Amino acid sequence: MRGIVYTGTDAEVTDKLELAEPGPTEVKVKIEAAGVCHSDLSVIDGTIPWKAPSVLGHEGAGVVAAVGSAVSSVKVGDHVVIATLASCGTCRACSTGHPTWCIHTLGNVSTPFTYDGEPASNFAAASVFAEYTIVKEVQAVSIDADVPFTSASLIGCGVLTGVGAVLNRAEVRPGETAAVFGVGGVGLNVIQGLRLSGASRIVAVDTVAGKEALARQFGATHFVDASGADAVKAIRAIVPHDPKSVAGALGPGGVTWSFDCVGHPTVLRNAIDALDWGGTAVAIGIPPRGTEVAVDVNSLAYVDRAVMGCRYGSARPHHDIPLMVELYKEGRLMLDELVTATAPLEGFRDIVDAMHEGKLARGVLTL
Ligand SMILES: NC(=O)c1ccc[n+]([C@@H]2O[C@H](COP(=O)([O-])OP(=O)(O)OC[C@H]3O[C@@H](n4cnc5c(N)ncnc54)[C@H](O)[C@@H]3O)[C@@H](O)[C@H]2O)c1
Ligand SMILES: [Zn+2]
Ligand SMILES: [Zn+2]
Repeated sequence: MRGIVYTGTDAEVTDKLELAEPGPTEVKVKIEAAGVCHSDLSVIDGTIPWKAPSVLGHEGAGVVAAVGSAVSSVKVGDHVVIATLASCGTCRACSTGHPTWCIHTLGNVSTPFTYDGEPASNFAAASVFAEYTIVKEVQAVSIDADVPFTSASLIGCGVLTGVGAVLNRAEVRPGETAAVFGVGGVGLNVIQGLRLSGASRIVAVDTVAGKEALARQFGATHFVDASGADAVKAIRAIVPHDPKSVAGALGPGGVTWSFDCVGHPTVLRNAIDALDWGGTAVAIGIPPRGTEVAVDVNSLAYVDRAVMGCRYGSARPHHDIPLMVELYKEGRLMLDELVTATAPLEGFRDIVDAMHEGKLARGVLTL
């Protein structure tokens, strides 16, 4: 079987993979399309520590090829989006509608593959850069067969992560203002989540000037090229302090919400510094373990500023994946427009290079 393996130092396209048969509560999926998320690149460059060898990819869609004896919610032939949360369904987090807090979902590793005869593990409980993969029943969420696989695949991470951060975690309200740092696959979905929420000013920030057109297409009202400007100053000029009220200390003015969709401490610090009184910065990007950000506690404590993390859009996949499909069908959520490059597995390098050059919304591998 073909797939892309993380070898410990690099990624390798191989045809030396074998896959086990699904257990009683598992589903085997024939992968049709898989988006390349920055988190896959972060495994390869060591930012996200992961076991090797393992099969990469965690944003995918395909067709159910086989089901275990106890599986009842999907059947062979169903089209599915794969959710990365192998949640248990019975713990306190799962029972209160927070599967992203389920302890079974973090660092969850199983070894359904062999690579050149040796055991190889999965990544993010998904491993969708392979012709076939095995997931838990709870992770295979069926969708209508008329959604193109390339578009559907992106729901599996970038769309849920970005739109979910706005709708589920921040719960942005109409008229609020926001800044989005990083106009990649995740950031564009934060931007369209903000548009869905009725945010008034949506300021997109990227170090690649060419991202402006995409940002505006997805709903940004302003764009800041951070390669040549002080992003915080620029955001505060776009959303200034109301001149009718007295300017106080601790920096009034700025946005209600800011989203770090890059994963760099300077970016998160800028996201905090761009906040108005009462504003909240949402940390989505994943920097190396141990990364810290310094902030004057007074700028938080006196004026109700906050910082919150958000994993996987705080998603509840069996609610949110059908919702994304419904919004897409109503013409309110852009999925097709996110797919700006497609390639077979062998074209992985080209997609990675284009991502590093900031040329893509999302690159999608077709299998
Ligand atoms: N929290 C989660 O659950 C979750 C889920 C998915 C991805 N992620 C993380 O989100 C981040 C973004 O992922 P992606 O797939 O959208 O990446 P991407 O490569 O598609 O996009 C990143 C964007 O950030 C821009 N950028 C880089 N440095 C910048 C800077 N200093 N200031 C402003 N913009 C800058 C790039 O030009 C690019 O447009 C990664 O760290 C990824 O690991 C987190
Ligand atoms: Zn991802
Ligand atoms: Zn659980």
